[in-house]
Order: sequence, then C-alpha cells, then structure tokens
Amino acid sequence: MQANVQLGELTTLRIGGTPVRYLHPRSVAELRSALAECRRDRLAWRVLGGGSNLLVEEGLLPYAVIHVCAPGFDRIRRPAHAVIGAGAGVPTARLLHYCRDRGLGGLEFLAGIPGTVGGAVAGNAGAWERHVCNAVRRLRVLRPDGRLKTVRRAALRCSYRHLELDGSVVVEAEFQLEPRSTELIGAQMNRYARQRDERHPLGVRSAGCVFKNPPGSSAGRLLDLCGLKGTRVGNAEVSRLHANFIINRGGAAAEDVLRLIELMRRAVRRRFGIELELEVRHWPGRSKAA
Ligand code: FAD
Ligand code: EPU
Repeated sequence: MQANVQLGELTTLRIGGTPVRYLHPRSVAELRSALAECRRDRLAWRVLGGGSNLLVEEGLLPYAVIHVCAPGFDRIRRPAHAVIGAGAGVPTARLLHYCRDRGLGGLEFLAGIPGTVGGAVAGNAGAWERHVCNAVRRLRVLRPDGRLKTVRRAALRCSYRHLELDGSVVVEAEFQLEPRSTELIGAQMNRYARQRDERHPLGVRSAGCVFKNPPGSSAGRLLDLCGLKGTRVGNAEVSRLHANFIINRGGAAAEDVLRLIELMRRAVRRRFGIELELEVRHWPGRSKAA
C-alpha cells in the first residue's frame, strides 16, 4: 500500500484526488488479498487501469483504488499459433505491437486508444465499427469473492462500450487473431492512427469521448451543431476539433468538467430532445459517493 497517491497523476485528464487506500497488487494472489482486505475493512473499491476513461473528483476519495498495471499483470503469452493471452495491465499499444511483429491481425482498430488491456475489455473499447470483446476468446477474471473464473466468449455479456463484469476484475484476456502479413497490419494501424490524428485532439489532457453516441447518431456532431466547440467552464473546454472531447487546459477542477458536461447535455436535450449518456466513468468524491 502507498499513501497519498494522487489520481490526477494517473489519469489522462490529469484530475483526481487521493483514495483512502491505494493498492497495487503484483500478482493474482496479491489481487485476491487486496479484495479480501477491502471486504474485511468494509471498504468499497474501484479498479484503475491506464486511467484514460476516467473523470475522478478531487479530495479524499472514500473507496480503495486497486491499480491493475505493470509489474505483475504485464505478461503476454502465445498459447496457440493465432491465440494471444495478455495480462490486464499490458498497455494496449504494447499488445498491438506484439501482434503486428508476429503477423497476427484482428486488433488493428485499437491503434491509438490509450490504456490497458483490462480497461479496454472492461469498457468494450472500440473504433471504426469494431469492438474489442468480439476478438476475445476467453477472459480470466477474479470474482469479488476471490475465485478465479474463466469466461468464454459466448458467455460474455457485452454491448456498445459495456461489458457486464458483476464486480469481477479482469486478470487476463485471450484473443483469437488471424495470421496476416506484418506489413499489412502495420499499414492498417498507421491508417487508423492518421484518421485519429485528423479527427481527435491528441497530445492534450482528455479522457476520450465524453458521451456515448446515441443510436444512429453522433454525439460529437450534435454537440457541434449546438455551437459548443470552444465553450469553457473554468479551465475545462469543449475541444475545438471534436465537440465530444473535453480538454483540461491546465488546472481544471472536476467541478468545471461536471458543469461543462451538464451544459453540453442541456444544449442537446433542448435542441434535439436527445438525452446523452456519459461514456467516461465518473468517480465521485466524498460528498457524492455511496
Ligand atoms: P481506465 O480508464 O483505467 O478504466 C476504465 C474503466 O475500466 C473503469 O470503470 C475501471 O474500473 C475499469 N477497469 C480498468 N481495468 C480493469 C480491470 N483489470 N478489471 C476490471 N475493470 C477494469 N475508447 C474507445 O473505446 N475508443 C476510442 O476510440 C477511444 N479513443 C480515445 C482517445 C483518447 C485521446 C483518450 C484519452 C481516450 C480514448 N478512449 C477511447 C477511452 C479509453 O482510452 C478507453 O476506454 C480505454 O480502453 C480505457 O482503458 P484504461 O486502462 O485507461 O481504463
Ligand atoms: N462530427 C462533427 N463535429 C464534431 C465531431 C464529429 O460534425 O465535432 C461528425 C464527423 O464529421 C462525422 C461524425 O460526426 O461525420 C462522426 O464523427 P467521428 O468519425 O469522429 O466519430 P465519433 O462518432 O465522434 C466514434 C467513437 C470514437 C472512435 C471513433 C472512430 C463514440 C462516442 N466515439 O467517434 O471513440 O474513436 O468513432 O471509430 O463512440 C471514445 O470512445 O472515447 C472514442 C474516441
């Protein structure tokens, strides 16, 4: 356990306070102990991966944060020719390079999505009409009661940006891939990265798209039509490039981001009668947490 870990240093939006307990297990056994410790101390807990899809409030956070990352969950193995198992803490980018170098395709669409394998699977990350859970062969998860369980693809309950985990922690994901030339895989990854470069604000503090796309529509387009690009609350700003991104211009408070989110929601509700649903995960502070 480490004291005084600021989640603002572990999230891409660069906002977030200090959890009452920060646990950094280095093995499945230590993860099991961490869960048991939270149960024993009647402490709620949340799992942190790469912190790239999170809006965390400031101050003392009334839950433990269990950080599933390297070292400990960073192993990649190849149990069969076209099957790769990746620890939940493996950075998604590292997995993609590993697959490319071995001529295994199928995950190229993830190019440019930050974070870890665990976070990608837990949120069923996707782009260009593809979703990561569709490439999963099976998952190894640790249930809240400490039992290790294997979930086969057919039993996964996933939908757009959602995987039902029932409180389990992803420990490893096995992917079914397809042999393909390294050059083709690399070229496809570069193409996706270029398209991202043109459309998304990169190299700035954000948590990706703020809202899910409503069925048949694009939240970014609706927000843009509301004229919201560049709108600011404190140091939180609607990106001028893509209206579904909020940028922390430096020193933004979670409250600024939350007020901007409300303003964006209200504008789309008034103009289009559509209720936008958050895509980023909001981790509340002391006053609001259950
Ligand atoms: P975190 O942000 O750490 O966590 C996200 C959620 O997953 C939390 O609820 C957390 O509790 C849970 N979680 C994390 N690890 C585990 C685990 N081991 N077991 C159980 N639960 C876990 N997302 C897309 O889907 N498509 C995109 O195109 C995309 N583009 C992005 C572009 C930018 C510039 C940025 C900043 C973000 C983008 N994102 C995108 C959002 C984000 O990168 C993805 O959702 C990413 O997969 C989250 O992974 P993470 O490890 O950072 O998860
Ligand atoms: N658009 C605008 N104005 C904007 C933004 C977008 O008019 O400010 C228009 C675009 O011109 C395009 C349409 O809206 O015609 C869709 O935009 P884009 O192609 O950028 O895709 P998106 O629907 O905004 C989704 C995902 C992204 C993913 C891309 C690529 C969601 C909420 N967003 O964006 O995922 O990378 O498609 O497939 O599903 C994320 O989840 O964090 C994320 C970035």
